[in-house]
Amino acid sequence: MRAVTIDGFGSTPAVTELAKPEPGPGEILVKVHASSLNGFDGAVIHGVFKDMLEHKFPVTLGKDFAGTVEAVGEGVERSVGDRVFGVVMKPVVCDGAFAEYVVVAEGYGIAAVPPSLDLDRAGALGLAGTAAAGVVDAIAPKAGDTVLVVGATGGVGAYAVQLAAASGATVLATAKPGAETEFVLGLGAAHAVDHTADVAAQVRAIAPDGVTGVVHLAGDPTALVELLADGGLLASTLGFGPEQAGREGITVTSVMANPDTATLDRLADAAAADTLQVPIGRTFTLDEVAEAVGAFGAGTVGKIGVSVV
Ligand SMILES: NC(=O)c1ccc[n+]([C@@H]2O[C@H](COP(=O)([O-])OP(=O)(O)OC[C@H]3O[C@@H](n4cnc5c(N)ncnc54)[C@H](OP(=O)(O)O)[C@@H]3O)[C@@H](O)[C@H]2O)c1
Repeated sequence: MRAVTIDGFGSTPAVTELAKPEPGPGEILVKVHASSLNGFDGAVIHGVFKDMLEHKFPVTLGKDFAGTVEAVGEGVERSVGDRVFGVVMKPVVCDGAFAEYVVVAEGYGIAAVPPSLDLDRAGALGLAGTAAAGVVDAIAPKAGDTVLVVGATGGVGAYAVQLAAASGATVLATAKPGAETEFVLGLGAAHAVDHTADVAAQVRAIAPDGVTGVVHLAGDPTALVELLADGGLLASTLGFGPEQAGREGITVTSVMANPDTATLDRLADAAAADTLQVPIGRTFTLDEVAEAVGAFGAGTVGKIGVSVV
């Protein structure tokens, strides 16, 4: 099968021919239709996790997958032909989803694709969507709240803006003037905050007593802590936790994406009902993944798709 691999940290991703994998007990072989780029992929290439996670080279890149069940191992309840999507969750960084086939466990990181959701959108939902659900759940916004999403123009941010706005909260989303501002307003943000200008002044002009919630997906979080009202909540995907916040009377949560089936189902149902947009800006083929990684690093608006078929 064709797969996009790296031979070592820092090497350029390239298409390689690998043996088609086989599912073991409790595992599913997925014929991949679509995937998408995540920060994790670039981090793997650059060895960011080399002291934290075991890597087995050649590493096939790709966390998100959407496709059809090609074969099942012993004890698996899903059937051949079922449409599934999710996130490759393996203890060793090795066999990812930028490939014609991927083997995943049945119990975690996988859910059914609803009939009215296409596989291209499902393939861009997994990691970014569950990370967004995690941060928004952590700040539990409701009508009357004000939520600042920092990093709103990226993949996680695009979902977080929508999930926070759906709660009834007033969402302030970081975006440069122009197309980025149009993008976040189109996702349901009430205000765009230009992060290349004075963020604090713009936020204070809208919420003089501070915002009730902050979603931190990019940039320096220390100044964001000061933008919270007393009793406010901040959630970060960048490892920023309560011990670094240095302020009493607020709640800070460091979030790891949790692609359990219930969360994936929630996202897929919302996307299928068109209450959650899956904003795929550009789509690259397997042969173009190196270019896609470069595009991701150069700045994204929404998601970058990877088409496998
Ligand atoms: N903990 C977890 O489980 C988990 C899961 C998923 C993702 N993550 C992490 O969460 C972060 C967001 O992920 P992503 O996939 O959404 O990445 P992304 O697509 O690169 O999005 C980041 C966005 O933030 C913008 N940005 C950069 N600096 C900014 C600043 N100072 N203020 C406001 N916006 C800024 C970028 O815009 P420009 O185009 O202007 O640069 C970009 O649109 C990444 O660091 C990723 O590694 C963590």
